[in-house]
Amino acid sequence: MREILQSFRVAYDYPVVFTRNAFSPSNCTLTGVLARGGAPPQRILPVIDAGLLAADPGLPDRIESWAARSDLQLELIREPLIVRGGEICKRDPKEVREFHDLVAKHSLCRHSYALVIGGGAVLDAMGYAAATAHRGIRLIRMPSTSLAQNDAGIGVKNAVYFAGRKNFLGTFAPPFAVVNDFALLDSLDERDLCAGSAEAIKVSLIRDADFFRSLYEARHALARFDAPAMESMIVRCAELHLEHIQTSGDPFELGSARPLDFGHWAAHKLEELTGGSLRHGEAVAIGIAIDSLYSRRAGMIAEEELEQILALLEEVGFDLYHPALRTLEVERALSEFREHLGGKLCITLLKGIGSGIEVDHIDLPLMKSCVESLAQRSPRDRSPAAARGR
Ligand SMILES: NC(=O)c1ccc[n+]([C@@H]2O[C@H](COP(=O)([O-])OP(=O)(O)OC[C@H]3O[C@@H](n4cnc5c(N)ncnc54)[C@H](O)[C@@H]3O)[C@@H](O)[C@H]2O)c1
Ligand SMILES: [Zn+2]
Repeated sequence: MREILQSFRVAYDYPVVFTRNAFSPSNCTLTGVLARGGAPPQRILPVIDAGLLAADPGLPDRIESWAARSDLQLELIREPLIVRGGEICKRDPKEVREFHDLVAKHSLCRHSYALVIGGGAVLDAMGYAAATAHRGIRLIRMPSTSLAQNDAGIGVKNAVYFAGRKNFLGTFAPPFAVVNDFALLDSLDERDLCAGSAEAIKVSLIRDADFFRSLYEARHALARFDAPAMESMIVRCAELHLEHIQTSGDPFELGSARPLDFGHWAAHKLEELTGGSLRHGEAVAIGIAIDSLYSRRAGMIAEEELEQILALLEEVGFDLYHPALRTLEVERALSEFREHLGGKLCITLLKGIGSGIEVDHIDLPLMKSCVESLAQRSPRDRSPAAARGR
């Protein structure tokens, strides 16, 4: 027998830049990002979320004017790929296929760029497409929802559905760069502005009590989508996610622990059960409520802590009840979550605000009672979001 132990390390670094109006002539962010890619000319395929385009029809012209600047020596593909926004582009392989067709048609190489501007779903689907074209062409993400700017668009993962299962196909593929342009959020509706707060509340609960307190203090400003409150929420949330990826020792999630997925076992199932009509952030807010209730009933957090968590979720605008809760099969959802993570069951719970803990066993009757408690919330208990008819 002969064994050769192959071993090497690959270092990744990519900038995550926060700016406003990235395509304006005086903004150097994108130029700086492209300068990291070597000598021009650089070829760029623009990809735009159809929901963003409908709300901001001037965007393709702004991209063209920016790219036409002579100093940049860019070759912009004058045929942006428009991708249906939301879960449909992850469920239906149509746009992944169209992306690959355009890469072939325009002879894009592994040093060319896909400049993908959109919500988390478009970034996930097009990230998967970019990672699989020629085994990976350079991806510049420009997240255009608050959730994509503080979580979905900044990390190392992409995914699409397969056989109705969310995120079944996907890769770990760090982007070339992420440009978080706050001006893109100007056209976002209230529902999607709110959705991003769920991931910030999530990461504050498992990592940073001070951040939780600041979110709690800013809850009324966040409910009004006040720009400074939203922007500092986005920046701190992104920072905590990036810090985790950098320092956890497991950026490509080879182990079973997935602390950033606090509240997500239920959220993923609720998204599937509602056919994507529940936004990821809305489902995560419900998932956080379930796992916080469980943490309380298992004696791990105090009643006042639970009350603060539920109050923050509701006061920033989340509805913690959805009819799909009545059909949520806890055992099956936990088992599918375990299968997706790989290895043994590993669920993050809370041992205090700002402090997550991984457990490998869930008391099913107790968890079911938590789901039932939320399912039984009376309309009186419900949030302003429910009152607004969300
Ligand atoms: N890869 C990851 O690490 C990761 C992390 C978290 C979430 N996700 C995924 O992200 C997805 C959710 O992303 P999301 O919350 O950004 O929602 P989304 O991508 O579903 O977008 C929501 C809606 O907003 C529209 N839209 C996007 N930007 C807009 C703008 N600026 N103006 C007007 N409309 C706009 C879209 O067309 C869509 O209709 C889920 O599929 C989730 O699984 C991925
Ligand atoms: Zn999430």
